[in-house]
Amino acid sequence: MDLCSIQVEDMTRNLMKILDSLEFSSDTYIETVTLFYVNGKLMGLMPLGMKKLNSQFFARIFKSSRMYNTILNLEDLSRVKCKICISSNPITFYYAIFKKEKLVKAFMGKNYSRKFCDACIDATMTSYEKDQEFLKIYLKPIEIYIVRRYPKGFNRASAAIIEALVHYTKIPFVNMEEQKRLILKIEMCMETVYRSSEKPTYRAIIEEIFKRAKNLLLNS
Ligand SMILES: Cc1cc2nc3c(=O)[nH]c(=O)nc-3n(C[C@H](O)[C@H](O)[C@H](O)COP(=O)(O)O)c2cc1C
Repeated sequence: MDLCSIQVEDMTRNLMKILDSLEFSSDTYIETVTLFYVNGKLMGLMPLGMKKLNSQFFARIFKSSRMYNTILNLEDLSRVKCKICISSNPITFYYAIFKKEKLVKAFMGKNYSRKFCDACIDATMTSYEKDQEFLKIYLKPIEIYIVRRYPKGFNRASAAIIEALVHYTKIPFVNMEEQKRLILKIEMCMETVYRSSEKPTYRAIIEEIFKRAKNLLLNS
C-alpha cells in the first residue's frame, strides 16, 4: 500500500467517524435539506431523509419531487454534486418547501449560514435504482463542514413544524379522505407548537402550513 492510499483510507475513516457522531446510521433517516448541482449549476433543493449504508448515503426520491425526473434524465451521474445540510432549525425546512430562494442565497459558495445550517456535507452521486414509487439514490460523502460548534436543546415546536411539513407535502398526492386525515394531523402539530412555544415565528409558520393545507383541500 502506498502513502497516498493510506492517506485516503485515513481520511475516509475520519469522515465516517464524524458522520457517526452526527448520528447518521443505517436504521434511522436523518432529515436533511439537500441541494443538487449538475456541472456546478443548482438543479434543485429539497428536504430529504438520509441513511448511511456502509460508507455511502442512501435516500429515496419520490415521483412527486421535481428531482425525480431531473435525475432520470441525466446522462452522466458523475457530474451530480450535492450539499447535504443538517439543521435543527425548522425554518430551514419551511424555506426548503415554500421559500427555496431564501436558502439558495444562504448556501452560495462555501458561505454556510449558521442560522440555517449546523453542518454541511459535500457529496457526489454514485448510482441510483428505479423502484416503483421512488428512486433509490446513493451518494458518496467527500467533505464535512461543521458550521455550528455549540449544541442546541431539543424543543417540541421545531419537531412539530417539521412533522407538519411532511404531512403537507403528501396532500397533493392522496385521495380526499387521506387529505382530511393529513389536515387533522397538521392541526395536532399546531396544538403542540402552541403548547410548547410562544415564539411568534413558530406560531406564524404553523398557522401558514395549516392554512395552505386547507387551501390545497379546497382546490383539489
Ligand atoms: C422533513 C421532510 C422530509 C422529506 N423527505 C423526503 C424524502 O426523503 N424523499 C422525497 O422524495 N421527499 C421528501 N420530502 C418531501 C419533499 O421534500 C417535498 O415534496 C419537496 O417539495 C420536493 O421538492 P420540489 O417541490 O422541488 O419537488 C420531505 C419533506 C419534509 C418536510
